[in-house]
Amino acid sequence: MLKNTEKGYGLIAIFTHWLMALAIFFMFGLGLYMVELTYYDPWYKGALDLHKSIGIVLLVLLLFRLIWRQLNVKPAELPGPKLEQAAAKIGHIALYALMFVIMISGYLISTADGRPIMVFEIFEVPALPWSFENQEDIVGDIHFWLAWVLMGFVAGHIGAAIKHQYINKDGGLSRMLKVNK
Ligand code: HEM
Ligand code: HEM
Repeated sequence: MLKNTEKGYGLIAIFTHWLMALAIFFMFGLGLYMVELTYYDPWYKGALDLHKSIGIVLLVLLLFRLIWRQLNVKPAELPGPKLEQAAAKIGHIALYALMFVIMISGYLISTADGRPIMVFEIFEVPALPWSFENQEDIVGDIHFWLAWVLMGFVAGHIGAAIKHQYINKDGGLSRMLKVNK
């Protein structure tokens, strides 16, 4: 139930996939919205604090998800040409890598001035003991562009899920929606 099987994803993989997918769409919108706010906007600080707090929770979830993935069997590949199966594998690795680099760059923007990140007023994540010149601007650009690249990959990912479900009719989408014992 909780773990993956040869046939499909378990509850933990499904739950973390959808929780993170929803949060990432929200973070993308929030990110673009909050950088347009001015200092005098009542949401100026709150929106950024929320973005950083959710971001740190997402980083923890991502690390958990990668460890969980290593501890589980991988569901069998969906039927299809070898090239498509390879594209799916590379696409999934790219999604994980993009999420990781976006989150690390977000951490590096937020801590460039040596200050820690306060997560939901509950705990602090310290800054690294070193930083580099123009860190905030350089990683800020990386963060912005990779967020767009991630959305591009996610669009392809959604297209692939729909194609599997409705054109190939191999249950490609259903297996991320319900546990298959
Ligand atoms: C997958 C998760 C994330 C997504 C999709 C995302 C997306 C974005 C986007 C689209 C922007 C606007 C960039 C711009 O217009 O310049 C932004 C800004 C920002 N993000 Fe994220 N972000 C994520 C995670 C994080 C994390 C984990 C942190 C820190 C812990 C963070 C910190 C920031 C900061 C500080 C800014 C403001 C940058 C500036 O003022 O130029 N983000 N984010
Ligand atoms: C920010 C949005 C999303 C991200 C970052 C994301 C990321 C991922 C990743 C990394 C995997 C591979 C899981 C693994 O085997 O370890 C995956 C699987 C999957 N995702 Fe997403 N996803 C997102 C949104 C969506 C959406 C909106 C859909 C549906 C329309 C979807 C459908 C699926 C399906 C069906 C699988 C299973 C593929 C298979 O069985 O081979 N995902 N997703």
